[in-house]
Amino acid sequence: MAGDLARRVPETGRGDEFDRLAQSLNAMLSQNEKLFVGMREVAENLAHDLRSPLGRVRQRLERQLSDSLSADEKTALAMEALDETDRMLATFNAILSIAQADSGAPRRSFEPVDLRILLQDVADLYEPLAEEAGARLRLALPGRPVVARGNRDMLFQACANLLDNAIKYGIASAGPAPHPAIDLDLDAAGERARFAVRDRGAGLHGEALERARERFYRADASRTGGGSGLGLALVDAVARLHDGELTLAAAGPGLRATVQLPLDKSAPAQETAGGAGEEPAGAAGAEHG
Ligand SMILES: Nc1ncnc2c1ncn2[C@@H]1O[C@H](COP(=O)(O)OP(=O)(O)OP(=O)(O)O)[C@@H](O)[C@H]1O
Ligand SMILES: [Mg+2]
Repeated sequence: MAGDLARRVPETGRGDEFDRLAQSLNAMLSQNEKLFVGMREVAENLAHDLRSPLGRVRQRLERQLSDSLSADEKTALAMEALDETDRMLATFNAILSIAQADSGAPRRSFEPVDLRILLQDVADLYEPLAEEAGARLRLALPGRPVVARGNRDMLFQACANLLDNAIKYGIASAGPAPHPAIDLDLDAAGERARFAVRDRGAGLHGEALERARERFYRADASRTGGGSGLGLALVDAVARLHDGELTLAAAGPGLRATVQLPLDKSAPAQETAGGAGEEPAGAAGAEHG
């Protein structure tokens, strides 16, 4: 069966131990196939995505060697080459962060993280950026701590990626409102904490909504936007690392991206009121803007 990743052990349908063994083997083979195909896709996409910027860096370095350029022109070329390399580094960093989250290794250093403080910090960072882009960031936090066990930096990055998208894609195409709102909400229901970013842009629909979490996926309209298509893949990987989940839903107008995580049960006195699926209960906390 060497080389053919799609082949499987035949099952007899008798439901005996040979069948169960075949089923386990086939499940393992399917998992291997998925991982292998995923790795191949990442390698192909990386090569494809880095080829053009590397080519541009090379071109600029080559032009710099020309005698006919002024010092200012040379500086401008060097700055452009630096920008290109920064973007390439960001792509590599995102891929490495996704791989790190997928490996599960950060679980060893999980600690209690109060999501209220974390979201407040992310909002403080992004509020001026939203304002600059012509939007209003509204933050709704519950009155009591909402504690999950996790990796603070990765959860911060996940929330930051969602806000980055809301600012990049949720504003330009928004309706007539001069300052469309971006909402960042946190609440706890049952044993889960949940934070959500909702914008009022064009949102995602159909195949784009299905595929937005894939590594390197960019919906057509934003192909020129300069993103590497890794932001949501990282949010997804971080959510799974925390035994949580990222869901994307059309919010009419806009996109609602929700991350659910298990609450840290050992944490004292935190927000656990309300049943699953309820609207944010005590979400009348700090409001930005
Ligand atoms: N809030 C949103 N509204 C509309 N489209 C979105 C939104 N968020 C993401 N998308 C679409 O999903 C694609 C994937 O998003 P993702 O964050 O993974 O990558 P990116 O923003 O293109 O690049 P990166 O985050 O790596 O800089 C985007 O290219 C965009 O087309
Ligand atoms: Mg993004």
